[in-house]
Amino acid sequence: MKLWGGRFAEGPSEVFERFSGSLHFDRKLIEHDIRGSQAFARALEGAGILTAAECEKLVAAFDAILQESSEAAFYEGATDEDVHTLVIRKLKERVGALADKIHTGRSRNEQVSLDVRLWIRAEIDKASALLLDLMQSLISCARRNPDAIVPGYTHLRRAQAVLWPHYLLAWFEMFARDVERLHQARARVNLLPLGSGALAGSGFPFDREAIARDLAFAAITRNSMDVSADRDFALDFLCAASIAMLHLSRFAEDWILYSSEEFGWLELGDGVTSGSSLMPQKKNPDSLELIRGKCGRVFGDFTSLFVTMKGLPSTYNRDMQEDKEPVFDAAHQLCGALEMARGVVDTARLNPSRPAAAADESWVVATDLAEALARNGTPFHQAHQIVGRLVLESMRSGTKPADWTPESLAKFAPEFTPEMAGLLHAAEGMKTREIPGGTGPRAVVAALDEAAARLSAWRK
Ligand code: ARG
Repeated sequence: MKLWGGRFAEGPSEVFERFSGSLHFDRKLIEHDIRGSQAFARALEGAGILTAAECEKLVAAFDAILQESSEAAFYEGATDEDVHTLVIRKLKERVGALADKIHTGRSRNEQVSLDVRLWIRAEIDKASALLLDLMQSLISCARRNPDAIVPGYTHLRRAQAVLWPHYLLAWFEMFARDVERLHQARARVNLLPLGSGALAGSGFPFDREAIARDLAFAAITRNSMDVSADRDFALDFLCAASIAMLHLSRFAEDWILYSSEEFGWLELGDGVTSGSSLMPQKKNPDSLELIRGKCGRVFGDFTSLFVTMKGLPSTYNRDMQEDKEPVFDAAHQLCGALEMARGVVDTARLNPSRPAAAADESWVVATDLAEALARNGTPFHQAHQIVGRLVLESMRSGTKPADWTPESLAKFAPEFTPEMAGLLHAAEGMKTREIPGGTGPRAVVAALDEAAARLSAWRK
């Protein structure tokens, strides 16, 4: 069955049908296509095109089609152009001629926009819930080792010591922004396009606000040509998904490093790692590597639709059928990566002595010492020079910060007071960073509590 054909003396070629058909992927939209058509049937009744009895009959038939669609045989031998055509054919098989009225004043251009919006809206809700789960896991992970000290890095060189929960909360904030971004994308997705027709607005007086309420949309779109041309809402989702994947990928990279023998901070759970077919000793972080790998794939999904849309003349063009596979894939990969990341966080164990030793044996306390000198009146640039020379001297003599005493420090530079020797231990310097957003122990306890409270508020 075709939704068009009267104007053609000959049917489509076999090659064209095979090339242009989208049923094999857009069947994913079937539930939304059916729900949207049920709402549209009610709108047709409201506009006097269908009687109440006809509407009821169509809605019931749609319910039966939806139920039937979960059976494997449903798609057997289907050669329909797309999911919209398939659903209308199935309707016709059930209700006969009455089915010919369902597409009154409706175009597939708006229908596909509607279906994809409904689909993305549901996926955004799924991904947001998974992000919140992951954020919860980060908080639990932080609470398991509240006092652990790790070196923070810049340029992958030990920079300054931070509390382990402070490090984890940095990821919490990134994922919190991802939730916000998805939420913002959702607001642009969550508009009813029906009533736009092919591009010029429907010729029938549908109550668009009523359809919007029926399908739980926040509002209606404002311009029919825009609706027909627009895939921004899909790009908004793909962009938000890409940034979330970027965060997941960087997180994965950190944890791949931190669980390596070279770092030895983290022991990953057996359940999220795999062995080697040749080397019996291996325990590889494949789960994290795949999170990192799938990030590239989602960027590809975003790029693919982004480039597809570039230069298309207004309004609808069939190129836009290429929106679906990237959107489906990105949502699938994002949800999968979020679920996997949570599994890794929940089963990883920190061995706090390793990062603590890494902090002790390096000069992550150098800034603390320089700032202490500055607090005592030494201009910071001079303080920086003094501590820089101290580090150089230590390198030459092979000493660690803790090898210095109040006496040897004062001998090295008279600006050092006896109390400053306390700062040779990473845990001490941290106490000077009680500024909001800093790694001071009290600031971190407050930040953890605030994060937990924000999370439970979001969950409601
Ligand atoms: N399968 C089409 C798509 O996904 C539906 C819209 C068809 N519209 C048209 N004018 N051919 O874009």
